[in-house]
Amino acid sequence: MARNTAHIIVFGNEKGGSGKSTTAMHTAIALLRLGYRVGTIDLDARQGTLTRYLKKRFDYITRNRESLPSPAHMAIQRSQCESVKNQNREEETFLMMALDELSRVSDFIIIDTPGTDSFLSRLAHSYADTLITPMNDSFIDLDLLADIDMKNYDVMGPSIYSQMVAEQRAVKKERNGASIDWIVMRNRMTHLNTNNNRVITKLLAEISKLANFRLAPGFGERVVFKEMFLKGLTLLDLKEDQDGGLTLSQISARQEVRNLIMEISPERIKNRKKPAKTMKKSA
Ligand SMILES: Nc1ncnc2c1ncn2[C@@H]1O[C@H](COP(=O)(O)OP(=O)(O)OP(=O)(O)O)[C@@H](O)[C@H]1O
Ligand SMILES: [Mg+2]
Repeated sequence: MARNTAHIIVFGNEKGGSGKSTTAMHTAIALLRLGYRVGTIDLDARQGTLTRYLKKRFDYITRNRESLPSPAHMAIQRSQCESVKNQNREEETFLMMALDELSRVSDFIIIDTPGTDSFLSRLAHSYADTLITPMNDSFIDLDLLADIDMKNYDVMGPSIYSQMVAEQRAVKKERNGASIDWIVMRNRMTHLNTNNNRVITKLLAEISKLANFRLAPGFGERVVFKEMFLKGLTLLDLKEDQDGGLTLSQISARQEVRNLIMEISPERIKNRKKPAKTMKKSA
């Protein structure tokens, strides 16, 4: 089937505000700038952060008449059907149509999911080739990955989100025998060497073995991410020769994004050193 040709990267975490949309947008633009063809799907159409981010980008392009690489984008609305059965059927049809459509014109499809559990989000997880979970440095975020005995900081077992990922891994395996490469990355890190920080590092290393994910270097807490969203730009769009050059924070943040892309290793996935130069510009 056509949709097997594109590599699907899902951004997921049942915790709201952990950085899924920001990371999804940066990954999409980074892959485009490497010369890959990228499609994006917003499954959080009600909030529509990724869709609004791209809208701001298109506004910027029109206003400044500047050519910026942008993905082919689709947003999938929640079904308004009356019965849950029909809702699920309709949502599944829309997602399949979007994947089929984008697979024809994309090397990578990026799917942004909402910060809550839903049929559509679970279904998307079952189609992930790579799953990226940004999490903040808090015990609330850890709690979604594993049950932790807070007295001794022992990991007791997987909790809701890890269980959901395990279920969707089984669904995918059953469907076509394929696996999901799960990457967890810390977002909004403060670089303070606090006790909390050390405990979270230790616990994450343990949970990664239990839940079978890889840990990627994360992003620091940087106001530049908020500024970029307002302009519809990403750190990958900044030019070295812009007025006054890049700030240290911008350079560091851009390197963090590049480190994440290295972890995804698009060249290994697409089995070619240099992607085709022909970039499909859309929208
Ligand atoms: N590394 C960072 N440093 C500072 N602010 C950040 C960082 N990452 C994300 N943010 C900000 O945090 C807020 C939430 O980020 P984002 O919308 O990407 O999260 P989300 O996981 O998609 O949220 P939701 O679950 O509501 O969809 C945004 O205002 C974003 O600009
Ligand atoms: Mg979001």
